[in-house]
Amino acid sequence: MNLWQDFTTNKDGRIINKWEHYFPIYEKHFSPWRNKTITFIEIGVSQGGSLQMWRRFFGPMATIVGIDINPTCARYEELGIHIRVGDQSNHEFLKTLIDEFGTPDIVLDDGSHQMDHLVKSFEFFYPNISKNGLYVIEDLHTACMEEYGGGINNPNSFINLSKELIDRLYADHSRGVITPDFFSKNTFGISYYDSVLVFERGTIPAKVAPIVGKPDFSYQLRKLVPPVFQPLAKKLKRLLLS
Ligand SMILES: C[S@@+](CC[C@H](N)C(=O)[O-])C[C@H]1O[C@@H](n2cnc3c(N)ncnc32)[C@H](O)[C@@H]1O
Repeated sequence: MNLWQDFTTNKDGRIINKWEHYFPIYEKHFSPWRNKTITFIEIGVSQGGSLQMWRRFFGPMATIVGIDINPTCARYEELGIHIRVGDQSNHEFLKTLIDEFGTPDIVLDDGSHQMDHLVKSFEFFYPNISKNGLYVIEDLHTACMEEYGGGINNPNSFINLSKELIDRLYADHSRGVITPDFFSKNTFGISYYDSVLVFERGTIPAKVAPIVGKPDFSYQLRKLVPPVFQPLAKKLKRLLLS
């Protein structure tokens, strides 16, 4: 069963509330992690339905951890689902999660959606997820909204802040303008979707661009011969081949 089918047939499980178009995005990025011994952390438990869905999706080998600032969420802990109460912007609290559950492979931020909280959680978790792990932010349309500390022209919206991360991803090609940092050296890709942002950790061991395959000599010749002599070169080639 894929994630979308799981969501649409969730009649007896706890409440899940997610935009429909998130499901193909999650299916694409999360599928390779199914049935592996992974640690998945979701920020924002609400009524616990999404944690149940992630457990069904990732399978019995996954450690599913939910965190929420609301202490009543602790009641949704069950077999295979751990819930810890704390603030997503508190680095000391976040560190206790690493101490207890180890390095997370995937972190999904569906918490307060406040810009300063998004930044705090990202700053802590991104260097602390596994080296090929994923960091995902859900409902990022709040970056367009002032009540969440965002706004289209607000430099502190997570979308605007993330534009600098794109530059840092390209640091190696910036001709010294940007010094490659941890993010540059440990990020494989960034995927933007409507309301969802996915960061893929990964290192590229050697950035090289070899030329492979059989050379086409007439192409090489065209590059060598100045345009004015090309009709002559063509005639010569025909003569040689006839
Ligand atoms: C959108 S709901 C989570 C929905 C859930 N992930 C789902 O898909 O069913 C957001 C949750 O984030 C929690 N939250 C708000 N501020 C928080 C903070 N600073 N730290 C951790 N959790 C927070 C709220 O209590 C709420 O339960």
